[in-house]
Amino acid sequence: MIVVPGPASPNLAKRISQETGIKLAKVHYKTFPDGESYFRIEDDLKGEEVVVVQSCSPPQDKRLVELLLMVDACKDLGAERVIAVVPYFPYARQDKRFLPGEPISVNTVIKSIESAGADEVITFDIHEVHIMERFSVPAHNLTAMRLLAKHVKSLDLESPFVLAPDQGAMRLAKPFAEVLETDCDFFIKHRDRVTGEIETKEKELSVEGRDAILVDDIISTGGTMAKAAQILKKLGARRIVAACTHPILCGNALQRMRDAGIEEIIGTDSIEGPYSKVSLAPEVASFLSKVAE
Ligand code: R5P
Repeated sequence: MIVVPGPASPNLAKRISQETGIKLAKVHYKTFPDGESYFRIEDDLKGEEVVVVQSCSPPQDKRLVELLLMVDACKDLGAERVIAVVPYFPYARQDKRFLPGEPISVNTVIKSIESAGADEVITFDIHEVHIMERFSVPAHNLTAMRLLAKHVKSLDLESPFVLAPDQGAMRLAKPFAEVLETDCDFFIKHRDRVTGEIETKEKELSVEGRDAILVDDIISTGGTMAKAAQILKKLGARRIVAACTHPILCGNALQRMRDAGIEEIIGTDSIEGPYSKVSLAPEVASFLSKVAE
């Protein structure tokens, strides 16, 4: 086996290699002046089982093309099998036609990755679990929740309480709360399909004087977390921490969350940056060790 790092995930790929002892391939990348992507893999891939690690976080379209080029090239260079590790799976939030005339974008992405030659796909906390059924090749949705919760457990929190900022995130908040051995609940959120405006319903919760951890798959504009934090503050929560698998944090997300009273943001290296405080490598390594058995 050999790990091929994509330009979006050099650190995660290195950590996976360190955790597993699987060789890390040497890859050179560049972007041509017109914006097209280039890479060259130095290692011989003939007959190898190749693990391509490339998250497709913003700029998603460029990252996706790079992933397709890499998977296709690995096959073309003689790889026996290619496992694509795509922690942030792009376009997963467009998993249906919400309004007439829209594309079902995630289906297009799945077809592209499969036709490039991926034999197996690994992703993390995909926006909707049912998307996994749309793959024709074996596809696995791993979760960062245990790793994130372990990190949060090491912080000095006062009577922690876990909250999903919308109903969908409850499937993540539950295992998170289990690790912390505490209770969890959720808010009901409505997003206007046209304006993107979010409305979160207030609800009575016993969080007074407690530290609250908001848990979600993605923080994009920070709107979902900010709305939930404002309610928690009103209810008397002491400290508010936001944890997520994919810290996209676009636009003024950070400021918006801080203004709402969120003191700490904890993300993973699904998206490499200042908020990737937890690595996904142990989960990928444990999955790969099962594949290698
Ligand atoms: C949507 O339901 C997701 O689980 C997240 O809550 C959402 O994508 C976060 O987006 P934003 O940060 O822009 O509110």
